[in-house]
Amino acid sequence: MRIAVGSDHAGFDLKRAMAGHLTEGGHEVVDLGTGSAAVSVDYPEYGLAVARAVAAGEVERGLCICGTGIGISIAANKVAGVRAALVHDVTTADLARRHNDANVICMGGRTTGLAEAADAVDTFFATEFEGGRHRRRIDEITQYESARDGRLEPAPPAAGEDERQSPIP
Ligand code: RB5
Repeated sequence: MRIAVGSDHAGFDLKRAMAGHLTEGGHEVVDLGTGSAAVSVDYPEYGLAVARAVAAGEVERGLCICGTGIGISIAANKVAGVRAALVHDVTTADLARRHNDANVICMGGRTTGLAEAADAVDTFFATEFEGGRHRRRIDEITQYESARDGRLEPAPPAAGEDERQSPIP
């Protein structure tokens, strides 16, 4: 799998370790920065870069790391088509894929240890989406994203319904 990785300074060490881990596992890693733990940088730049690469289809999935994973997941989720999941362990990694079809995994470099992160990453990139009722829920999010004004379009009137009636707000 082709995977974009990005972090701020607080996530740099874990990102570097996970990038090596993924490469060893046979994945192709595209590192979008940052390049050092020594210089303080702002996580939105790196979360958005990874998210844009996923949304554009330049990579299949993404991995984002900041201090807690919170800020960078918030940033990544602003890009339409991206479902960035803040993952802490194997259980959340597994459910992020099976139920949420997450395409970006986010973790905290200051909150998740190396071994636990490696197990979570392995699970995330090996687990398939279950579909079914979970597909409907993903579609509700996608519909919201694609609505022109950012709100769900009113549902079309059902057959036999008075079309002159205003939709309930
Ligand atoms: C940086 O100090 C820290 O705030 C950042 O890495 C992240 O944890 C934000 O959510």
